[in-house]
Amino acid sequence: MTNDLYAVVGHPISHSKSPRIHSLFAQETGEAVEYTAIQAPLDDFDGTVRQFFERGGKGLNVTVPFKEQAWQLADQRTARAAKAGAANTLFLDEHGKLVADNTDGCGLVRDLTGNHGLALGGARILVLGAGGAVRGVLGPLLAEAPAALTVANRTVAKAEALAVLFQDEAQATALTACGFEQAQGPFDLIINGTSASLQGDLPPLPANVITGGTTVYDMMYSLQTTTFNQWALDHGANRVCDGLGMLVEQAAESFRIWRGVTPQTTPVMDVLRND
Ligand code: ATR
Repeated sequence: MTNDLYAVVGHPISHSKSPRIHSLFAQETGEAVEYTAIQAPLDDFDGTVRQFFERGGKGLNVTVPFKEQAWQLADQRTARAAKAGAANTLFLDEHGKLVADNTDGCGLVRDLTGNHGLALGGARILVLGAGGAVRGVLGPLLAEAPAALTVANRTVAKAEALAVLFQDEAQATALTACGFEQAQGPFDLIINGTSASLQGDLPPLPANVITGGTTVYDMMYSLQTTTFNQWALDHGANRVCDGLGMLVEQAAESFRIWRGVTPQTTPVMDVLRND
């Protein structure tokens, strides 16, 4: 039996953990899946995707910097992808139409609630950043009905625009926007969705946003404690989590969409932590 072909497309792509994660899922579930990494030229993402599916490829994950292009390219978008404005999962439907989904927000919520045991209903949440990564997770976070969700960003206008865009999904949640310096604690959960640490920066938050009851979640994954999580620990955070669980959970949701089988994620996280 030949394996069905899947891949992750990005630029650069050599650091991607997706091939490792999906081959562990395939091993665990017995699904006949082969999963590779493709570096698309920066000026030809669309051609790379077309070629992949013309050659019989079954599904793609999409990562930086192509998630918005994947969303544009698709013939159809799932409801959650439509709102996210970006796609990380592509596949063809039974009529050969290219469908875009976004599993990032679902992955984050599953990691927070399932793996870390956090109750998001009624929680006070601060989300840092207002770029594509944050837009992708706001819908699923609001669906958990937190009491308050504040989006704080360096460019305040972008945070305000997201608060307007997601107002209709806020329902019982007080959804607000502000600059970092204006964030008013305390918060039960602070999620860092900025790329500040890539430049060695920290968002300039007032120290009182963190109390002994605050959990901090950095959407970045790194082998060492991330810069942001170290800052949070130094300011008395109750616990810190990195983005490994989100990475594995979003992959599991893509795998389910493509194969109709939900893999176990905990063993895969254990393997990755020890790689
Ligand atoms: P991504 O897809 O990772 O979200 P993005 O859309 O470029 O990437 O968004 C990056 C986010 O990190 C933005 O919220 C950005 O703030 P601005 O909207 O003000 O640009 C934030 N960010 C990037 N570098 C930062 C820094 N040095 N300090 C604080 N925030 C930063």
